[in-house]
Amino acid sequence: MATLVTGGAGFIGSHTAVALHAAGRDVVIVDNFSNSSPKAVDAVRALTTDDLAFVEADLLDTDAVERVFKNHTIDEVVHFAAHKAVGESVEKPLAYYRNNLGSTISLVEVMAEHGVSKLVFSSSCTVYGEPDVIPVTESAPTGAESPYGWTKYMSEQILVDAARALPLDVVLLRYFNPVGAHPSGTIGEDPNGIPNNLVPFVMQVAVGRLDQVRVFGDDYDTPDGTGVRDYIHVMDLAEAHVAALEAMASGRLRGANPVNIGTGNGYSVLDVIRAASTAVGRELPYEVVGRRAGDIAKTWAATDHAADVLGWRASRDIEEMLADHWRWQSQNPDGFA
Ligand code: NAD
Ligand code: WQD
Repeated sequence: MATLVTGGAGFIGSHTAVALHAAGRDVVIVDNFSNSSPKAVDAVRALTTDDLAFVEADLLDTDAVERVFKNHTIDEVVHFAAHKAVGESVEKPLAYYRNNLGSTISLVEVMAEHGVSKLVFSSSCTVYGEPDVIPVTESAPTGAESPYGWTKYMSEQILVDAARALPLDVVLLRYFNPVGAHPSGTIGEDPNGIPNNLVPFVMQVAVGRLDQVRVFGDDYDTPDGTGVRDYIHVMDLAEAHVAALEAMASGRLRGANPVNIGTGNGYSVLDVIRAASTAVGRELPYEVVGRRAGDIAKTWAATDHAADVLGWRASRDIEEMLADHWRWQSQNPDGFA
């Protein structure tokens, strides 16, 4: 099987390319490096094969996508390419709608022209907003609170409609909070500028690029007052994509199916800082500041549906997530730069 990985130079895509290769698939990556580095492709090749195919192209360029399908054998697609910063999406909504919706529509059109009918789409727990019932199941109400979130919500709807009309099966993977890195420490998350997300921020404190962690609020309705999330190791997440492709290839999953990808465990901000301090080997400094606008108190995934339909469950714990994330950050204090 040959798998097209859009956004495969990015954080989750690079790890998934490695997992797909390990599962015996040929991989073709397409990326425009709008939020990633060519060095990530080199690092993926070093972990897989020098022959791994890479095409630098923008998915909004339909002719370029068309050429990818003409020049390579492609049986199935994993679509990561998107802009993903919640705050930036509020400043630049049109750029987010154009990129995230435009790339998804063009991709599915070209897939249909070439008779490719299996797709895994990167959705997000952000479509649940603040859930009323935790653990949150796939049947919980969905919506969005930022333009980024709406692009995920709308992409899901576009793909549900496309799967009704076309020969198309699609698994909508709703990721919770991906962290960690490949155990080699040679690929990992490399955010531009000051990280928005907790674990990259904590790790930049650990390497001395930032002074201290800012804990956004300790007055939530949670055991220690700080926000609780379902952190998932990026290698577990990567393997979930392989499981989703296999479930479609075997005919077990047809049509459009949303599936949560989390561990089912919730950890607070202070839990994460503690586990990171253990991984790093010293107490990491933090101060409590005000809540961040738009944050929810707590969420974690119901995981039985993933186990039922994909035969997949996360296996790596929070200690392994932070130890692997630290190996990547300590070996590469400036990321791929
Ligand atoms: P990332 O930014 O590291 O990777 C996305 C990649 O897509 C980047 O390499 C970028 O250069 C590329 N890209 C963006 N637009 C493109 C275009 N038009 N043409 C070609 N390439 C393009 O992000 P990530 O964390 O790996 O996230 C991957 C996917 O998972 C995204 O769709 C994101 O919305 C989704 N997601 C991420 C998280 C998270 O916390 N990281 C959580 C839920 C969902
Ligand atoms: C986690 C916890 C913060 C930074 C985001 C997106 C979501 C999805 C995953 C893409 C919260 C706290 C954070 C910091 C802190 N991405 N925090 N200090 O907000 O759960 O989800 O990434 O789809 O859409 O919104 O992740 O890592 O930003 O925050 O105290 O410097 O850490 O308040 O409780 P979040 P996060």
